[in-house]
Amino acid sequence: MTVTVRFAQSADKQQFLDRWELYNQFYKRTVPADVTEEQWRRFLDPSSPVYCAVAVDSDKEDGANVIGFVTWLPHIYTGSIEDVVYLHDLWSDEAQRNVGTGRKLMEFVYADSKAKGIKRVYWHTQHFNHRAQLLYTKVGTKTDFVQYSHDV
Ligand SMILES: CC(C)(COP(=O)(O)OP(=O)(O)OC[C@H]1O[C@@H](n2cnc3c(N)ncnc32)[C@H](O)[C@@H]1OP(=O)(O)O)[C@@H](O)C(=O)NCCC(=O)NCCS
Repeated sequence: MTVTVRFAQSADKQQFLDRWELYNQFYKRTVPADVTEEQWRRFLDPSSPVYCAVAVDSDKEDGANVIGFVTWLPHIYTGSIEDVVYLHDLWSDEAQRNVGTGRKLMEFVYADSKAKGIKRVYWHTQHFNHRAQLLYTKVGTKTDFVQYSHDV
């Protein structure tokens, strides 16, 4: 298995959508089709500051080779001139976990952020997502912050 990570392309749409659906099931959430469609449009729109990369297993045939994805977005941060990056979504196919795909996806975001002059990438996870944290403790530093939200 040879895994590389690259920016998502329009031809990846169906493979992305299949994984997006699994990711939504993992989070026990329903994302309406029009919302998904709009996210995908934004990922491919260079003027939209949200990005998507896919992990590709080049030992598989084109059209059946996407095995994971990551999305991220730079935003203004009041503590620095430079933006920071929020790493939003991360998925690696269940059958192929623990072989480095998740790490490669995160490292792609780090490299892209660095190329954009950004110095920090941050993300959240659920406190009980121990599987993800096995990776995160190796590629990041746990902070003291907890998250609150309020629907308006
Ligand atoms: C979280 C997720 C993306 C990780 O993907 P992955 O492809 O398995 O990740 P990797 O193989 O790159 O990394 C796994 C790391 O965990 C470590 N790990 C796995 N099991 C471990 C264990 N039992 N003990 C110690 N470390 C362990 C591996 O050693 C590896 O670290 P390494 O790169 O230093 O070798 C994947 O599990 C996933 O998609 N989960 C469902 C969705 C999800 O939780 N997304 C994140 C939401 S915040």
